Amino acid sequence: MKQPLKGPHHFTGITRDVTTNVDFWCRVMGLRFVKNTLNFETTFRYHTYFGDEEGNPGSVVTFLEFKEAPVGVPGDGDIQRLILRVGSYDSLEYWMDRLIANQHHSEMLRLDPTQPQSLVFWDPEGHEVELMVSDSTDTPLVAEADDIPAEHRILGIEGARSFTTKEEQLPFAQHLGFRDDGYRLVLDAERSGRWYFSPPPGRPSGDGRVGVWHHVAYDAGDGAETQAARDEANEGVRPWTKIFDHYFFDSCYSMSPGGRMEICTTGPGFQLDEKLEDLGDRLCLSPRVEPLRAKLESELTLIVNPRPRNKGKGTSTAPPAAVDSSPNGAPATEPSSVG
Ligand SMILES: [Fe+2]
Repeated sequence: MKQPLKGPHHFTGITRDVTTNVDFWCRVMGLRFVKNTLNFETTFRYHTYFGDEEGNPGSVVTFLEFKEAPVGVPGDGDIQRLILRVGSYDSLEYWMDRLIANQHHSEMLRLDPTQPQSLVFWDPEGHEVELMVSDSTDTPLVAEADDIPAEHRILGIEGARSFTTKEEQLPFAQHLGFRDDGYRLVLDAERSGRWYFSPPPGRPSGDGRVGVWHHVAYDAGDGAETQAARDEANEGVRPWTKIFDHYFFDSCYSMSPGGRMEICTTGPGFQLDEKLEDLGDRLCLSPRVEPLRAKLESELTLIVNPRPRNKGKGTSTAPPAAVDSSPNGAPATEPSSVG
């Protein structure tokens, strides 16, 4: 079997509240806010991106803004959870404490000794997340976060857990290079990717609702490699769309038995229109939408980056250590505002 994919690229959900979304994924989870932009196919909806320090493929969690989307829960055939890697059991304990300090419930999963150790919780809008002590040997993809001990920071995307069976997902995923690995499917690539499964809950799909992960994306390399991967994937059990230009990368999609999947190019990536040290500090618009900037900046909810890297640019000039001074994990300093 040809091996067309390089590993996980990003994971995407839907938000109705970008303020809460940015606060949770950047400030609480410690990911870097790597791109403040609009959904490429609209001119008035945010698309937020969080990731490691460089916004590398394999680290990125993104959200599309749909204020009018109903709230829902994942059902049969949906992605149940985004799974992120952490380094140790102690990290799971750390994250349970940190989530408690930020008023979030969580649950340690260790009743089944055959399963990896995990902590499960929900983001403020109901997206289910699993932190897993992975057996992957991939290079960690880590963001700087002064108030989170280095050994406990998020290490990148492990993969998806879906409400379907491994047997249902296998023909689709096998065609993309995943192999059967007992209770899961594994992609052995430049970066490993895993697909886990939970028994379908017997309720309808919640696709398109807030609180239901929209898709998982895998990296296929450059444009030619992505076209080849798409064409090969399209010969499998489910059809794939054509490839769309999404500015930061090009993407195509299919609906797998375990939820929507995307194949995309590695780049050009988030340094296409910002320097590394500036990522997330301003509203980035594609050339097509740039003529609308003044109108957009007057109408859109102002997004505040809780962790600006270039601290001299914002209103915060306090040293990073000040972040620790709040009992609930909130930064003690005023964050920089961005346009
Ligand atoms: Fe995507």
